[in-house]
Amino acid sequence: MAELSEFFKSYVQKESIFTDKSVFLSSYLPETIHHRDTQINQIAQILAPILRKEKPSNLFIYGKTGTGKTLSIKHVIKEITAASNETGLQIRAVYINCKLKRVADTEYRLLAQLSREFGKELPSTGLPTDEVYRVFFNAVDQQECPILLVLDEIDQLIKKTGDSVLYNLLRANDESAKSFMAIVGLSNDMVFIDNLDPRVRSSLSEEEIIFPPYNAFQIQDILKQRISIAFKEGVLEQGTIEKCSAYSAREHGDARRAIELIRVAAELAERTGTQKVTLKHIDQAEEKIERDRISDIVANQPKQSQCILYSIVSLSITRKGPMFTGEIYGLYRNLCSKTGLRPLTQRRVSDVLSELDLFGIINAKIISKGRYGRTREVFLNIPEVSTHSIKETLLKSLDIRE
Ligand SMILES: Nc1ncnc2c1ncn2[C@@H]1O[C@H](COP(=O)(O)OP(=O)(O)O)[C@@H](O)[C@H]1O
Ligand SMILES: [Mg+2]
Repeated sequence: MAELSEFFKSYVQKESIFTDKSVFLSSYLPETIHHRDTQINQIAQILAPILRKEKPSNLFIYGKTGTGKTLSIKHVIKEITAASNETGLQIRAVYINCKLKRVADTEYRLLAQLSREFGKELPSTGLPTDEVYRVFFNAVDQQECPILLVLDEIDQLIKKTGDSVLYNLLRANDESAKSFMAIVGLSNDMVFIDNLDPRVRSSLSEEEIIFPPYNAFQIQDILKQRISIAFKEGVLEQGTIEKCSAYSAREHGDARRAIELIRVAAELAERTGTQKVTLKHIDQAEEKIERDRISDIVANQPKQSQCILYSIVSLSITRKGPMFTGEIYGLYRNLCSKTGLRPLTQRRVSDVLSELDLFGIINAKIISKGRYGRTREVFLNIPEVSTHSIKETLLKSLDIRE
């Protein structure tokens, strides 16, 4: 006990590595946005007619995660609202992140949220869909001004509710005489739009803008700006920014990942009591983030996938080479009888293997065995140091004892 109080005392007295940690919050808006002038200007051009009470085209913005989509649209919303205030013509801009739970996980909740933004409360449940839309369209109409509705991570909404909700929202303009609404949808998922109902699709993407991944040099610029606020001079060892950017640009240029990498590295450094963030801390941070990412995915898999994954992990611990579908299936069936799960067919198990492959947790390669048909070679794609902790996670979740 005494030791702990000593620890806290000296912790408080020690100087922090950070001068301002708030630049690492997800709500932080940087003062300058690097390397996105083209995209921001395009968005502004498309939405500007709203300032003359003309309905702008609907706009679909897509690009991989961490390419600055959310940041850029928020910036444009801020500026266009300021411009509208200056000219005296009111516009209403509503930003919704569809990934948020309890905001957009059902059609009803989304409509309730939107209606609330426009001053109409819906009961928490109970109204039939038609009625909900009637209230909403009414609320839109009564705004008597142009509306900009921004649906961020719109793919998450459609995944949860289907595309009829978009179809219905897009109808608002036919239902309202006094207001109009332009929709901006943003998505990290590039193929989602191809699976939409063609009418909805063409309506949402009257205009499209793509956000390409950043390259390593662009990520460096983004990092430098934040680092200059976050740390005192000289805290970062020579080359850390370059290393961080190189890591983040390896898969695709993801600014979020780069910023997280620096933060985690600095936290690890601080924990060891040093005042210097070194290249080694970047490596450790990269490992830690990857570990957390994997255990997150594993913990959130459905039971069946966990069961299949457990079989793969068990096999991988006892051997070095590839595993084959047949033996994984055998082990999996055994496990099913232990846990009381109903075994899937071998075909469905193959589908699950493909999913796990997509998540990057395994590598599954189809190989031909000549006249014996085809099978898959499976490799576990988890760092060896993590396999045991992953196994523990799975054991707990599946409630089995070895
Ligand atoms: N060009 C940029 N300049 C400064 N910071 C950026 C830039 N692009 C992205 N960021 C930062 O990177 C993180 C991810 O950006 P975000 O806009 O959320 O990406 P997306 O919405 O495309 O996934 C945020 O913290 C954001 O502030
Ligand atoms: Mg985003």
